Formats: sequence, structure tokens, C-alpha cells
Amino acid sequence: MSVPPILLSTEQIQERVRGLAAEIERDHAGAETLHLLCVLKGAFVFLADLVRALRIPATLDFMAVSSYAAGTTTTGEVRLLKDLDIALDGRHVVIVEDIVDTGLTLNYLQEILRARGPKTLRTACLLSKPSRRKVNVPVEYVGFTIDDRFVVGYGLDYAEEHRNLPYIGVLD
Ligand code: IMP
Repeated sequence: MSVPPILLSTEQIQERVRGLAAEIERDHAGAETLHLLCVLKGAFVFLADLVRALRIPATLDFMAVSSYAAGTTTTGEVRLLKDLDIALDGRHVVIVEDIVDTGLTLNYLQEILRARGPKTLRTACLLSKPSRRKVNVPVEYVGFTIDDRFVVGYGLDYAEEHRNLPYIGVLD
């Protein structure tokens, strides 16, 4: 298998993740504890780096969604494959996502999570492809804005491969 060329290097990602952590800390100055929600599987590496860059106490939870049936185009249908273990009421919640593309997945997640009564609900996405957006969804923390390319690595996959690349590479 060929090695995907680098779009964003390990060093670029690490520096930006530290910047995002600083932005998140600043916006939650009054919060005792942050509650980070990792959207599996793609966000697991981003979460691991982000939580270690934060200097305020943080708790974690995980959820898994499938955006749409493999191989088909986006329908907006999102399935909840694994729900959270911990209730959100009264917590300062930050959704941690790998990439916002059409925005349909995040739009659905924000809707169901908001209904669970968190004190605050914000979203951190490592990557954003604004040219692909179908719904306007608020993302308070964006790592990098990229063109419409298919990217892998740093947790992101193509058919479950490439998640362990230490950088973000381009597949197309
Ligand atoms: P959205 O609902 O269209 O915003 O899709 C978001 C999900 O699609 C992400 O959480 C990823 O799982 C997947 N995705 C979108 N673009 C890419 C990409 O370039 N590489 C890997 N996965 C992607």
C-alpha cells in the first residue's frame, strides 16, 4: 500500500492542538471541570492529545455514530451506535470530533446532546471542509480549514485503514 503524502505534519498538528487547548481553557475559565465527549472512532487520537494539553480538570466520555451506510452519498441519516455512559446535566461539555464535512453528523449530535441539559455545549473539530457544508452548524474550535480532499491519519480512516499514521495525509 502506498504511503499517503503529508498535508499536515505531526509538528503542525501538535502546535495547533496546544492552541486549541488554550482557546478552550480561556472560554471555560469559570468551569471547575470540563466534560469532553469523543466521537468514535476518528477523534480518539485528537482527544488523547487535546486532553493532555488542557490544564484544567477534565472528565471523558465516548460515543459512536455511523454517519451513513458505507458507499452511499450523504443522506443525513445518523445512527447512534454507542451512547454515552455519563449524564450531561449541569456539565460544561465539549464535543470532540475529527472532521466536519457536510455538517450533518455534528448537527444531529448537537441536537440530541443539547436536549440532555448540559450547562454549556461547545464543539472542537480538528478539521473542517467548509466547501462541503450542507447545514450550518456552529463549531467554536476548528484546528485547520482544508480543501475538499479526502484525508486520513491521526485517527481518520479510509475503510478502517491509516488511522495510525502520526500525521494527516491525503488519499485522493
Ligand atoms: P459529515 O456528517 O458529512 O460532516 O461527516 C463527518 C464524518 O465523515 C466524519 O466524522 C468522518 O468520519 C467522515 N469524513 C468526512 N470527510 C472525511 C475525510 O476526508 N477523511 C476521513 N473521514 C471523513
